[in-house]
Amino acid sequence: MSIAIALDGPAGAGKSTIAKRAAKALDFIYVDTGALYRTIGLAASRKGVEPKPSKEVENLLSEITVDLTFNDSGDQVVLLNGEDVSGLIRTPEASMMASKISAVPTVRAYLLDLQRNIAKTHNVIMDGRDIGTVVLPDAKVKIFLSASPEARAERRYKELCEKGMDVKYEDVLSDVITRDYNDTHRETAPLKPANGCIMVDTTDLDFEQSVEKIISVIKENI
Ligand code: DC
Repeated sequence: MSIAIALDGPAGAGKSTIAKRAAKALDFIYVDTGALYRTIGLAASRKGVEPKPSKEVENLLSEITVDLTFNDSGDQVVLLNGEDVSGLIRTPEASMMASKISAVPTVRAYLLDLQRNIAKTHNVIMDGRDIGTVVLPDAKVKIFLSASPEARAERRYKELCEKGMDVKYEDVLSDVITRDYNDTHRETAPLKPANGCIMVDTTDLDFEQSVEKIISVIKENI
């Protein structure tokens, strides 16, 4: 039987970087499910399909393939119709598109089996918004990772600047707040702590402390 760790929380809480390190330390694979929603958002942008419930979105889903694979370093690679789009989905525009399209119930249903199948065959830390509540409610350990909106915006701002993107802190903070609102207020699978989850707040923790905290929470509970 494989072991699943569900890691949920708002945008910019550091889930991906923290979970990646924790997964390496524990010899689990790390799956970033946000990349799947981003990929569908990208597919919709390319075809000019509006991110809202519609026949066009359904048609789009029937025309595309989305796959997750792992490269030699064990990092996740996401494929849209066989094309590696892992880099293309990391822009602020792609973030906002993903936040909107992830509210469409058919999109969520489309990605459900893909996510569950990965957990059936691997020991996994799966990061997202509804992993502990919907995708893997029976996960061995469920963690809700958060930090204040300002701390999260500051981290994302630094990340984007390091990638050479020309962004303003105020815009990043306003994006974080808008996405929090979208993610927590949608009807299908809204972001909320799962029953029985362990709450971890990283506002006052640096990266290394956050990694240590997550590893110790997992070790204590598996
Ligand atoms: O984790 P991220 O920022 O890459 O996620 C992009 C968007 O996808 C985010 O606004 C919420 C959505 N998402 C979701 O609804 N459910 C998930 N399991 C993962 C992400």
